[in-house]
Amino acid sequence: MITEAKKDVIKATIPVLEAHGTEITTTFYQNMFKAHPELLNIFNQTNQKIGNQPKALAMTVLAAAKHIDNLEAIVPHVVGIAHKHRALEIKPEHYPIVGKHLLEGIQEVLGDQATPEIIDAWGEYYNQIAQVFIDVEQDMYQDAAWDGFKPFTVKKKEFMTPDIVRFTVDSDEVDKSFTAGQYITVKVRPADYPYEALRHYSICSNKTVDGITFAVKREGTDDTKGVVSNYLHDGIEIGDALFLSAPAGDFKVEEDHGELLFIAGGVGATPVMAMAEEAIAKGNDVKFLYSAINETHLPFKDQFENLEVEGADIRVKFSESEGYLNRKDFAGNENREIYICGSMVFMNAMINELGEMGIEDSRIHFEPFGPKMSLQKV
Ligand code: HEM
Repeated sequence: MITEAKKDVIKATIPVLEAHGTEITTTFYQNMFKAHPELLNIFNQTNQKIGNQPKALAMTVLAAAKHIDNLEAIVPHVVGIAHKHRALEIKPEHYPIVGKHLLEGIQEVLGDQATPEIIDAWGEYYNQIAQVFIDVEQDMYQDAAWDGFKPFTVKKKEFMTPDIVRFTVDSDEVDKSFTAGQYITVKVRPADYPYEALRHYSICSNKTVDGITFAVKREGTDDTKGVVSNYLHDGIEIGDALFLSAPAGDFKVEEDHGELLFIAGGVGATPVMAMAEEAIAKGNDVKFLYSAINETHLPFKDQFENLEVEGADIRVKFSESEGYLNRKDFAGNENREIYICGSMVFMNAMINELGEMGIEDSRIHFEPFGPKMSLQKV
């Protein structure tokens, strides 16, 4: 166990880390990729460019430092991240690599401020945090529906809107069961890209008779053009093989609360539609508020129609003409358990609006399409 003296050293460095957190992790990533270029096959290079991932790691390290007297408090956060790590095949042997370069990043950015005492305390504490992740991930590897990445055949490719495509993929070799709200992870190697690339996509329906369905939005423009989403849109057709790792993720309907409110924006409807399908099948009362840009950008019409037939109360609001969903749309649903999914901007807007209405955090469950920790209060 880490000594009280070392804990004090870590606590004392929190303000410095807060000031330099993103800078340290950015330096750390640059140095780590230089020493271990093979990791470029695992990390999302588009996230690196736009800075999301460095921020997420910084927030997690900070959360851990703030909870040094009670490391258990970070376990709920670790679970969501560990699901992503498991889906990406992050293994125990990767942790010392991250630890070494993280400490060197602290050293490089803080210079003389990072005394040997500080580096030593953080080294020991990093190992403890890493062990929490490794232990949680070990159980997830054991529980996964299949090992590693398995080939699936593309059975359907359906354009939902000009920029969202829905794939149905199938395999006879694996058990396709999953919990509504989970995602699969796709591994591709586009011809004009020097690495393998991995991305998570939420499974968008509970119905698996034809296979697993997931939807992909074409991401970015020019410099930030999404490598994988554009490849899947333009380069993958019916009959092609796609490699998937087993379903992962902890976004799910917690209990059968009876009355549920699902809120989603754009392609964020994907996990929430599967959750709503499951909740209705279990007899819950389901209300679904959906924000789309306009009629042209209204995806999943067939699934929304089915949900309505099955008993869901669905309202679609077009943000272009009517604005975002807001407290007027939420009024009357204050007692429902709430599940939200959408872009980071959408999530921030919804969480703030619901918070200002006085709805407790514990009743708001969410899954942003982006690193969750950058929305988390730590
Ligand atoms: C994702 C933290 C170790 C590879 C993440 C995320 C966080 C995080 C917060 C974002 C999760 C989200 O999207 O919500 C940590 C911490 C670690 C650690 C605190 C050490 C204790 C590792 C290791 C590897 C790794 C050892 C592999 C070398 C990744 C990858 C992603 C990720 C590839 C996906 C995001 C991307 O590709 O940009 N991690 N991680 N992590 N982590 Fe870790």
